[in-house]
Amino acid sequence: MCGIFGIVTKEEQQLGPTLIEVGHRLSYRGYDTVGAATIPQAGKVDLRKDVGKVQEVADRLNFEEMAGQRAILQLRWATFGAPSYTNAQPHLDSDGDMVGAHNGNVVNNVELRQQFIAEGMTVRSENDGESCVHAVERYVDQGDDIISAIRKAYHDLEGDYAFVVGRLGEDKLYAIKKGSGLVAGVTDDLTCIASDLPSILPITREIVRLNDGEIITFWAGGYEICNVEDGSLVERAPELVEDSIEIVQKGGYDHFMLKEIHEQAQVAGELFHLLENSSDIESMIAKLKAARNIYIIACGTSYHAGLLGSIYFANLAERVTIPVLAPQFIAHYVPTVGPEDVGIFVSQSGETKDVLNAIQAAEKRGMGVLGLVNVVGSSLMRASEYYVPLACGYEISVPATKTFTNQVVGFLYLALKLGGHETAALANLPQWIDATIEAVERQIPSVEGKISPWDDLYCLGYGLTYPIALEGALKLKEITYAHCEGMLSTEFKHGPLSAVTEGYPVIFVAGPDDTSLIVSGINEVTCRGGRAIAIGEEDARLRANADDLIVIPTIEAPDWLRPHIVALLSVLPLQLLSYRISLARGFDPDFPRNLSKTLTVD
Ligand code: G6P
Repeated sequence: MCGIFGIVTKEEQQLGPTLIEVGHRLSYRGYDTVGAATIPQAGKVDLRKDVGKVQEVADRLNFEEMAGQRAILQLRWATFGAPSYTNAQPHLDSDGDMVGAHNGNVVNNVELRQQFIAEGMTVRSENDGESCVHAVERYVDQGDDIISAIRKAYHDLEGDYAFVVGRLGEDKLYAIKKGSGLVAGVTDDLTCIASDLPSILPITREIVRLNDGEIITFWAGGYEICNVEDGSLVERAPELVEDSIEIVQKGGYDHFMLKEIHEQAQVAGELFHLLENSSDIESMIAKLKAARNIYIIACGTSYHAGLLGSIYFANLAERVTIPVLAPQFIAHYVPTVGPEDVGIFVSQSGETKDVLNAIQAAEKRGMGVLGLVNVVGSSLMRASEYYVPLACGYEISVPATKTFTNQVVGFLYLALKLGGHETAALANLPQWIDATIEAVERQIPSVEGKISPWDDLYCLGYGLTYPIALEGALKLKEITYAHCEGMLSTEFKHGPLSAVTEGYPVIFVAGPDDTSLIVSGINEVTCRGGRAIAIGEEDARLRANADDLIVIPTIEAPDWLRPHIVALLSVLPLQLLSYRISLARGFDPDFPRNLSKTLTVD
């Protein structure tokens, strides 16, 4: 997730140290390139940027000495366009008298770049931040004043972003918010803007929060906000923010995990828009269509997303795929694969050693490599012929939540495309996810106490909910330290049933097509004194047979698609349940003992 910062001070001063400090504070969001620009009244923009960590880049390019009254800083988390000097932000306009940087995704970037090139502008990178600059340049060149140009550019730039821009020969900067975070801070001597509050709180606690569709013009010690649609001025006085930086970094949530659970609606929506505008999807689909065998290869949570993806491919595209854990791919399938086969490698980090080993083995056999990866610029991305960027931003909490959801969304999208189906219904994902989280959060407190004392439990699913049961069990294991086994519900009677004693908790994840089967599983448990906790849509059979029912709101989607979405939504109660039980048992869900976010060892 990129971060931007812009500052205007009263006196000309060495701004470098402030830029470096803010860079460090923004870095928790995740990034791969760092860039800064100071903008003098006259002369040239001083632009310094490169791939690397804040301190490395700042030392190499001597940010410390950067001076002026106006500056912009950007940390880029690559989505499209590899992390490189050229793609690093900020970006200049064609003749270098305007400079800007953004946070977010401009989904029609490819199309816009072609237009800018055709209009004779100098386009230097593949990065969508540069498109923001040219989108403004286009109208400035036609004679518009800067605010009108930004207002028109806003309508050309599709997607969610926040953007800051400045020009030589002025004493102001301008920023606009559309979907991505943007706040301003003000003192008597300066005004600044940033993607988030924690990065500016050490500078000032006098904060102005911006809304989507607002442009802020800011100068030393002052600012003016206007509405992008009609240009009307918006009155907004600064508010005093007294929260600690740590609380603010977690977006007001107690843990990063809870914040990331709540970010799922937004990231799913952003991914959907990216995929709808991606030029790589058709190539990926062509590659999958031509493949002899398709393998889905991953570890941990990513493997569970791949397993659900494999069911999506079968149900929605009538295509057999082979989901397999990465090390087992080497042991089991490598001797049989060749150039006619394709592997979809799935990894949040793109650096899991088990996955990289599998890629290496696949490449030796000439097999095609596709990727579903969150960290662009990672080893998996670089090895992939085509990839789906998960576009989740940085996931800080060790238990993967939003990256799992977007892996599933990525698979659902690919399966729909491969099967020749419409994808438009997926535009409702944010609304469905938010509604589910809201409904489930109200229900969990009455259930968690029935599970939290137990050190041993099961989580069962069937068909589409089988991978969700495995993922729910993994979440519970990771952060509650209780042993929770995920299993196909019909297998429970073939052995594990002997574990059931009075009150023994068994969670059942019920998909709409499989409720009858789940109900019989529930009865096998309850008639032996066990406690059945069902997760599913409101259903009289579940209500009558289970001890507890966590209800997922019923969504409006075509019948053939609905169970696939319900499966995806069912992971949300399991994430929230794990989170709550982890707290009830006295653990830190963000950083569970013995575990690491990225396992770079065999
Ligand atoms: C580690 C993490 C898991 C993660 C797995 C795969 O074990 O603790 O949460 O699912 O690696 O990670 P990846 O980055 O490849 O998705």
